[in-house]
Amino acid sequence: MSDLRIGIVGLGWAAGAHIETFKHVQGATVTAVCSRRRHDPADLEKRFGVPLAAYDDFDRMLADETIDIVDICSPPWLHARQAMAAARAGKHVLLEKPIALTWDDAKAVRDALKKAKVQGGVCFELRYSSQFQMTRSVVQQGLLGHLHYGEVDYYHGIGPWYGQFSWNVKKDGGGSSLLSAGCHAMDALLMLMDSEVEEVTSYATRSKSPTFAPYEYPTTSTTILRFKGGQVGKVASVIDCLQPYYFHTHLVGSEGSLLDDKIHSAKLGTDKSRWSSLATHLVDSGDVKDHPYQPQFQAFVDSVRAGKKMPLTDLETALETHRVIFAADRSAQKGEPVRLSKFR
Ligand SMILES: NC(=O)c1ccc[n+]([C@@H]2O[C@H](COP(=O)([O-])OP(=O)(O)OC[C@H]3O[C@@H](n4cnc5c(N)ncnc54)[C@H](O)[C@@H]3O)[C@@H](O)[C@H]2O)c1
Repeated sequence: MSDLRIGIVGLGWAAGAHIETFKHVQGATVTAVCSRRRHDPADLEKRFGVPLAAYDDFDRMLADETIDIVDICSPPWLHARQAMAAARAGKHVLLEKPIALTWDDAKAVRDALKKAKVQGGVCFELRYSSQFQMTRSVVQQGLLGHLHYGEVDYYHGIGPWYGQFSWNVKKDGGGSSLLSAGCHAMDALLMLMDSEVEEVTSYATRSKSPTFAPYEYPTTSTTILRFKGGQVGKVASVIDCLQPYYFHTHLVGSEGSLLDDKIHSAKLGTDKSRWSSLATHLVDSGDVKDHPYQPQFQAFVDSVRAGKKMPLTDLETALETHRVIFAADRSAQKGEPVRLSKFR
């Protein structure tokens, strides 16, 4: 079987990392890019090291019958429209987060992909990081017993030093602290707790630092979650901090606890008075060149080739994370708890 051919739309920071990553993915090749301005293919080859057809019109790239997968790396407000158009054109869709900026648009993407019978994957690539593969395996092997509490928090200052700052500060650009970046923490918590969310209460605020003043929405939020199984959890999304990147994980269960790369497990007989170390590489960078895209993209390509849903970061699973995020943002806005049954 020949390689699947990928067309990328949006040629910014994330797209550069996607193109580089696909060089290390078996069974697929990036063959085209679509940008707002027409690039010279010779310049593109020099820049990215691979031959690329250049489009400046998305519909024309969609009409290219040699393209099997459309990889959406444009800014958030274009995701839903472009994903639906790609599905209608019969292309499988790999989508940078967020799926969309509204719950209705996110559902419309799901419906369009379902109708077109194409596969969808969303870049919640941290599920494929060595840290979260390890953490998930600790939970699944029962080393913490039954989890009753979990918190995953995202601390990463997204200031003017970021290329996306100019659009991310806008309400119709970044959307909210969670949609902009904290979604990775929400997604990780939902994967680890493995239970449906029943209700969320969220509060939002913002830093007084002038650095983050251009944001049109509150840049820090904290969300308390109640799961259907009775467990509770918390997700902080702090994109207005001045500190090193920190992705915090704390899980508490009937047989022990896990804190980032440390564990106490009664099942393992470790000493409860001190942590035991788990050797893993912690998620510690917001730089796309450090993101664990490769195993995720490989899983997506393998799934498309096998004609089945990808593991961990398929569209439906990512949609559930978005459902909780939209409910949390509604809670913060209204100042009251929100039941997830309102988001169907
Ligand atoms: N998964 C992750 O961890 C991660 C990390 C970084 C960015 N992202 C996501 O990737 C997406 C892009 O972010 P970025 O940081 O690369 O932003 P960026 O601003 O660097 O890139 C976006 C690109 O899209 C182009 N664009 C705008 N309108 C277009 C149109 N109509 N047609 C084609 N191209 C258009 C812009 O010119 C720009 O080159 C965002 O959704 C962001 O949330 C995800």
